[in-house]
Amino acid sequence: MPDIVLRGIDKSYVSGQLAVSNLNLTIPDGAFMCLLGPSGCGKTTTLRMISGLEQPTGGDIEVGGRLLDSVARGMFVPPEKRQMGLVFQSYALWPHLTVAKNVEFGLRMQHVGAAERRRRVTEVLEVLRISEVAGRYPAQLSGGQQQRVALARMLVVKPDVLLLDEPLSNLDAQLRLEMRAELKRIHAEFGSTIVFVTHDQLEAMTLATHVAVMNTGLLEQFGSPLAIYNRPASKFVAEFVGSPPMNLAPAADDDALGASLRDYVAPRLDAAQAATIGSVGVRPENVHLGAGTPGDWRIRATVRAILPTGSTWVVRLDVGESTFFLVDFRPVDLAPGTEVDCSAAPADLHVFDADGRRVTAYDPAGGGDGAGGAPGGAADPVAVTDLSPAIPTPAGATAGGRLDGTDAAGAARGHAGATA
Ligand SMILES: Nc1ncnc2c1ncn2[C@@H]1O[C@H](COP(=O)(O)OP(=O)(O)OP(=O)(O)O)[C@@H](O)[C@H]1O
Ligand SMILES: [Mg+2]
Repeated sequence: MPDIVLRGIDKSYVSGQLAVSNLNLTIPDGAFMCLLGPSGCGKTTTLRMISGLEQPTGGDIEVGGRLLDSVARGMFVPPEKRQMGLVFQSYALWPHLTVAKNVEFGLRMQHVGAAERRRRVTEVLEVLRISEVAGRYPAQLSGGQQQRVALARMLVVKPDVLLLDEPLSNLDAQLRLEMRAELKRIHAEFGSTIVFVTHDQLEAMTLATHVAVMNTGLLEQFGSPLAIYNRPASKFVAEFVGSPPMNLAPAADDDALGASLRDYVAPRLDAAQAATIGSVGVRPENVHLGAGTPGDWRIRATVRAILPTGSTWVVRLDVGESTFFLVDFRPVDLAPGTEVDCSAAPADLHVFDADGRRVTAYDPAGGGDGAGGAPGGAADPVAVTDLSPAIPTPAGATAGGRLDGTDAAGAARGHAGATA
């Protein structure tokens, strides 16, 4: 089954404005790859280019060693010759066919025999729990049911590559959770390469073997969910992934939190590196009440509010003019106004330069994601997009992908070497 390789992909729809810019990505065979990013960052555009529904304006796309797009060579393979399964944000079901006939359609096109067609349609309808509406027409279904029919129609033909654009967005929370589990099972069973678009970071973290985080048409980071979470390559990724989001403070004298964090990390860097610090972050779940262990970062802060979520206690704290949050998994019983010590382990702090790129030279104890630390300095783009090998991958999948070529985002900002 095929690796999907995107090389220097650009896409501009009309004049000048790039919807996707210099995208370099190798999606390994058998990966469950989530394209993650905020609205308008270019996720759907990227997926449509892989499918052939949209043509790049620059670069090459190769699948399983077969060149499908090459702007330089004027090459383009149309969508129907790419053998990929597609479910898009807006899915069109045949209105004049029942659910069962809609799902069966692709099998008929492949000239699969009647008995085998019946068997496979029955199976997939059961998996997606729409058997009871098999005889209805699309107009007689809820949005969530229609979405599942669209999924069933694609899954039934077992394509090597599945392209899914927010396929669970119309489902309620409970069903979405169940469908995520189902998709994960289907992926493990079929071993297809899946490219899954979502703007929901939790969805990406729970489903993916690989995550590509995009921002304004640029690739911010490509790596395992754990690497993205534990070693965000940029401030943007750090803030986008995680809930509640990472506490991030500017390394400025007039910011009590930022100054404290900066003064803690600076002596752990050489003078030139320390001078590049733009901001320092720590995740709420990595901030602990109490003085911690010797050597930890510490700060004295005032409790402002306690926000119990049922399973966790989110505490809002003030220090000078800054506010930050901590998450505790045990009940916190402190009155607002109480002064407390807070602490965090050195490996749980994240340092970013003035351009918002990770200062990889600050890497105590290997970064804590099992990746064993970043090789080299930030001048090496691979260090910025470092992948954790620690995550489980399905049978047949390669253990971890890699960014093919350069870090598009870093290069585009002329940042390379800024933190070295
Ligand atoms: N057909 C089009 N013509 C012109 N501009 C387009 C077209 N499709 C998308 N764009 C623009 O390209 C950019 C990327 O759009 P895209 O649909 O890829 O975003 P997205 O990441 O999928 O967002 P969302 O999460 O909202 O679906 C946006 O600025 C969008 O306005
Ligand atoms: Mg979209």
